[in-house]
Formats: sequence, C-alpha cells, structure tokens
Amino acid sequence: MIRQERAEDHEAVRAVHTQAFGDGERVPALVDALRIAPASLASLSLVATIGDRVVGHVMLSACRLDALPRLVDVLSLSPLGVLPEFQRQGIGTRLVAHALAGAENRGVPLVFLEGSPHYYGERGFTDATKLGFRPPTLRYVPGAFQVAKLSSYEEWMTGTFVYSDAFWALDCVGLRGEQLKQLQLRSEVDATRA
Ligand SMILES: CC(C)(COP(=O)(O)OP(=O)(O)OC[C@H]1O[C@@H](n2cnc3c(N)ncnc32)[C@H](O)[C@@H]1OP(=O)(O)O)[C@@H](O)C(=O)NCCC(=O)NCCS
Repeated sequence: MIRQERAEDHEAVRAVHTQAFGDGERVPALVDALRIAPASLASLSLVATIGDRVVGHVMLSACRLDALPRLVDVLSLSPLGVLPEFQRQGIGTRLVAHALAGAENRGVPLVFLEGSPHYYGERGFTDATKLGFRPPTLRYVPGAFQVAKLSSYEEWMTGTFVYSDAFWALDCVGLRGEQLKQLQLRSEVDATRA
C-alpha cells in the first residue's frame, strides 16, 4: 500500500534510507531538512507499507525553474528508497507513479530528479538536457538530470533548474570526487558500446 507519511513513520523512513543508500545519515538528514524547510509548494512524502511495516519512501519537495518570464514552482523527486530485502518487487515503481500522480493533481508542471536514466526512463522521466533544461551543477553524470513534464507544462517553461537550499546545505546535488570520476568513466564506456 502507498500512503502519505505520518509523524510516527519518521524513524522507519530514516531506516529505509540508511539501509537503501548505505550512506549513513546523509539521506535521512536531507529528508529531515526538507520536512521543515519553508517552501512555496508543500512537499509530498509517501511511504510504501507491507502490513504495518514501512518498506519504502519517496519525497517530492519544492524547487524552482528559472525561466525567462518568471520563476516557476516545480518539484524535485528525491529521495526514493526501498529496503534492500524488498527491492525488485515493483515497490519503487509504484512510489514513483504515486508521486507523479500527486504532482499532477496539484497542477505542478514539472518534476525534476537526478538518477539512473535506465530506472527513471521507464517510469515517466526523460533526459532534461535533451529537452533544453539546464542542470543546477556541472557535477551530474550525463543522462542523470531528468524531468517529467505534466499536463500543466507550457512551452515557455524552460531554463535552469534550481534546487532548494536544503539540497545545497547538505551537499546533496550531483556527485563529487572518486564517485564522479568512476561514473563518468562508466558512461564513457557505455557510450562507446552503444
Ligand atoms: C532504486 C530503488 C528505489 C528501486 O526500487 P525497487 O523497488 O527495487 O524498484 P522496482 O522493483 O520498481 O524496479 C526494479 C527494477 O529497477 C532496477 N533498479 C533497481 N535499482 C536500480 C538502480 N539504482 N539503478 C538502475 N536500475 C535499478 C532493477 O534492476 C529492476 O529492473 P528489472 O525489473 O529490469 O530487473 C531501490 O533499488 C533503492 O532503494 N536503491 C537504493 C537507493 C537509490 O539508489 N535510490 C534512487 C536514487 S536516484
């Protein structure tokens, strides 16, 4: 079942991201910061449950698109996590679908994310750079900057995607150091094979 997160789910959501990302407190800290950040659009925080157990979580939070006529309120899909023992059962797919449906219901025109094009490309997202959007950093691996256009999107809505401050404060935009080098290398190898 997919439902809105409640206050009593916070610890379970923390555990989901600690185990899914294996990156200590980084992702749970981002979720904590996004929950309380002042924002022009309310965030959407959904959990996947099996029985009483929270096994997955996805968050949509307010960001901006710096378009020529004006700033546009958009959403960022981040983070998405499923407990390792429940992965590859379609839970992530359902969380993404519910998140996009939630954004659509609120009349939000665009949802951006940084992630695997193989995963999100089959789940409603496309390469944002190819559609003319500018990424918020130079530290994205090619293809990782993605967008879903929803029904209230209009042609003039193009420009630079700007993350909210919580992402910058916790250094959660793009990759750094060895991780970035390895992924760049891998995408060069993939491009050679393709
Ligand atoms: C990514 C994640 C949320 C997917 O959840 P899930 O419930 O396993 O996803 P689904 O069952 O709906 O889809 C499974 C498919 O996604 C693929 N997949 C899973 N994780 C992936 C990843 N990190 N990159 C690319 N593909 C991935 C699987 O290979 C599988 O493909 P298949 O059906 O062709 O075998 C989960 O693996 C996870 O929590 N990963 C760690 C955290 C993370 O990387 N989050 C995403 C950040 S952008």
